[in-house]
Amino acid sequence: MKKIVILISGRGSNMQAIVDAKIPGAEIAAVISNRPDAAGLAWAAERGIKTIALDHKQFASRDEFDAVLAKKIEGMQPDLIILAGYMRILTDVFVARFEGRMLNIHPSLLPSYPGLHTHQRAIDDGLKIAGCTVHFVTAQLDHGPIVAQAAVPVLDDDTEATLAARVLKQEHQIYPAAVRAFVNGELLLADGKVKRVLPLDGAACLRVPG
Ligand code: GAR
Repeated sequence: MKKIVILISGRGSNMQAIVDAKIPGAEIAAVISNRPDAAGLAWAAERGIKTIALDHKQFASRDEFDAVLAKKIEGMQPDLIILAGYMRILTDVFVARFEGRMLNIHPSLLPSYPGLHTHQRAIDDGLKIAGCTVHFVTAQLDHGPIVAQAAVPVLDDDTEATLAARVLKQEHQIYPAAVRAFVNGELLLADGKVKRVLPLDGAACLRVPG
């Protein structure tokens, strides 16, 4: 069994997609949130998954918070840490500790549009194609070796909300697919590059819905 720890900050719909995928060989060791009121925590607890709320506001510094978080995670000896809408910048020390076994999803076609308000920025810039990216986590925010991407059209009448919803649907496809590949040992990071031991399902590499 590969042990997985999922970090969230809010709704947790990507976490739900991964849990609901019931990936063979994967065990969710815990869902941790830096916001005690995150809706995703209640969802996980209702399903009997161990949940931990670690309120970042209770800590004097980012370093202190990340040190306690890392200790809690390491206590569970996870094979994989999944950032699923975890909206806190991680310290370099934290990232280094979990290098090669931490994935993130971001709602843009990275390296374009890291950070916040990706959908509005994409609309404002007149993009015709938007999307989402699963990547290994490095010290740089929303950056790192790319595992999977999905593209969606940007429609003329899109708002931030409609585009976000279209992208989110694809997030829920590619993130479980990437996690499944990692759990199967088909995906790893070597010399800073994504290696696929076996070819990833085409759907996980690039999805362009018709
Ligand atoms: C998702 O769209 C995810 O890609 C994004 O936050 C949302 C969380 O939704 N993450 C980032 O912007 C990371 N930089 P969820 O809580 O329903 O999964």
